[in-house]
Amino acid sequence: IPVDPFDLVIFGGTGDLARRKILPGLFRRFIAGQMPANARIIGAARSDMDSAGFRAMVAEAIAEFGGMESPPQAKLDAFLKQIHYVAIDARGEAGWAELQELMKGTDKIEAYYFSVAPALFGDLAERLQQWGMADKQARIVVEKPFGRDLETAQALNATLATYFDERQIYRIDHYLGKETVQNLMAVRFGNMLFEPLWNAQYVDHIQITVAETVGVGGRGEYYDKSGAMRDMVQNHLMQLLCLIAMEPPARFDPNAVRDEKLKVIRALDPVLPHHIIRGQYDADHDDAEGHPNYRDAVGDPRSKTESFIALKTQISNWRWSGTPFYLRTGKRMSARSSEITVVFKETPHSIFAEDAGQHRNVLSIRLQPNEGITLGVTIKEPGPGGMRLIDVPLDMTFSEALGEDAEQVDAYERLIMDVIRGNQTLFMRGDEVEAAWAWTDPIIQGWEARGDVPKFYDSGSDGTTEAFEMMRRDGREWRKVA
Ligand code: BG6
Repeated sequence: IPVDPFDLVIFGGTGDLARRKILPGLFRRFIAGQMPANARIIGAARSDMDSAGFRAMVAEAIAEFGGMESPPQAKLDAFLKQIHYVAIDARGEAGWAELQELMKGTDKIEAYYFSVAPALFGDLAERLQQWGMADKQARIVVEKPFGRDLETAQALNATLATYFDERQIYRIDHYLGKETVQNLMAVRFGNMLFEPLWNAQYVDHIQITVAETVGVGGRGEYYDKSGAMRDMVQNHLMQLLCLIAMEPPARFDPNAVRDEKLKVIRALDPVLPHHIIRGQYDADHDDAEGHPNYRDAVGDPRSKTESFIALKTQISNWRWSGTPFYLRTGKRMSARSSEITVVFKETPHSIFAEDAGQHRNVLSIRLQPNEGITLGVTIKEPGPGGMRLIDVPLDMTFSEALGEDAEQVDAYERLIMDVIRGNQTLFMRGDEVEAAWAWTDPIIQGWEARGDVPKFYDSGSDGTTEAFEMMRRDGREWRKVA
């Protein structure tokens, strides 16, 4: 079903994110029949090119990043007809009259995607207003990083609020657009089975791991100023934590959901220094491809930025008091694997012989790859060997359960369609982002004050030995990254 007619202006339309994610994603939505024939996508960037040049760039981006063997040519041509380009100067006057002319007099939905450095958000917002494009119907989409601490995030929110209402602002965290993340809400709030057990009384602990095999690649300059805490924990892992821990919202509507997420962030305990481990990847000594270590990759032999974090925190509220939440993320780890795991407590009493073994239910929610949800259930080992207990997985791997045809939608394309539909549920509200920084800031300030230096871990491993020790001290184990 097509969404309502729209014009989407992508500032930074020639940039990396636009080429890798936004434009190929829009093409897939076009093929799926979701893009109305009179919708337009308008690239706006500094590069001096015309619409024909931009269309060629879009076609290349689709070929390279579209994830399709060979994109159907007729569809591609039709899609490209809906694409335009304006060379624009975010801080100057060039291009604005042309954009204004293009956007004039349509009664379509107008969305402006700020896929540019955050330093330009304010300039773009101001220019849009000056040129009469920021009316109360317009929507703007902003990318992370949303500030680098509480103060800068507040300033950014204040600037945007000068020109737009909160209901017009769509702050992207692309983890919220991932299929399994939404499924987490369906599983929690669509079944009677889990919610009664979803609390400190029955849950031993929760783990969230987002492991990547890639290093910082060509993003060294940005990354070295951020580190894993700002790049991943403050946003993506925090959002996952919110969804796994929040109270059931009264309705599945944007503010009801976001109110509950905000309460989780506000109830987070401060993290004690010995409950957070920082790591930095060293080279992989068996690595034939010769990937550089972190410091070489960012070109600073003394960099103190972390590419790995493992931490333990707690949520001080009625539901979760006393339940540890362990979070871990890093680059150049052994596998690309994102998983949330709920480890339930042991049964209060075992009726079986001691050597039957005692087991725990483990619910694991896999974000990528092999998206799906698995519940480990204890049963009797089949056969005549007496009462011995084993764990078997109740597997809800989506591709198996729903068939290979189940439509795979990338996070970005889903989120952009939500912008057009005017649905903010999967976008961060300003107060959420600020609360997340308020929790993150003292941790980072602590490192800075102490001159903390991250420990090295080998590329291809699962982080520093200290991260494993932290778990061991608690009598627990990290899940295997696989
Ligand atoms: C981005 C981070 O937000 O998320 C990157 O800036 C990271 O450093 C990426 O690699 C991970 O996203 P995904 O969807 O590949 O897990």
